[in-house]
Amino acid sequence: MSELRAAICPGTFDPIHLGHLDLIERAARLFDKVTVLVAAQSGKRPMLDLADRSDLARAVVRHLENVEVETFDGLLVNAAEKIGATAIVKGLRSVEDFQREQQMAMMNRQLLPEVDTILLVTSAHVQYISSSLIREIWALEGDVTQFVPDAVAEALERMRH
Ligand code: PNS
Repeated sequence: MSELRAAICPGTFDPIHLGHLDLIERAARLFDKVTVLVAAQSGKRPMLDLADRSDLARAVVRHLENVEVETFDGLLVNAAEKIGATAIVKGLRSVEDFQREQQMAMMNRQLLPEVDTILLVTSAHVQYISSSLIREIWALEGDVTQFVPDAVAEALERMRH
């Protein structure tokens, strides 16, 4: 019997969007178990608090049997080790993403050689989506429904009132 293969999909998820969901669904097909790890801190000042970001992530992955959502604080490699993950799965939209992700992958591998980073090229139909542009459009009272799952669109709409 082979061991269960566990992966993590870490991120700020501020908010989780259709590009994230595409990546998580693909990771769930490649691994036995996927943990979406919502970062308490990521060098950014999130618009949504940690509870909102993780609750929305939970709502969005509810249909995926082998996916769960957890939060983490501190170093990603420590969270990966605790979970027993063999891989960190991230999405690649662009050359800019590649430069950042390659450096993080190498740093993380130096810190914890047992865990490898797998970079999945983003699906074309969601390549242009980013949380920062969603926040900007939302703050300027634009419609973000086409970029996010329904649960997120509804939550963002409620936040306006
Ligand atoms: O959604 P993001 O901003 O691309 O996610 C970045 C995240 C949270 C994965 C990254 O900032 C992270 O791993 N933060 C945890 C702190 C850490 O381990 N830093 C060292 C990275 S080499």
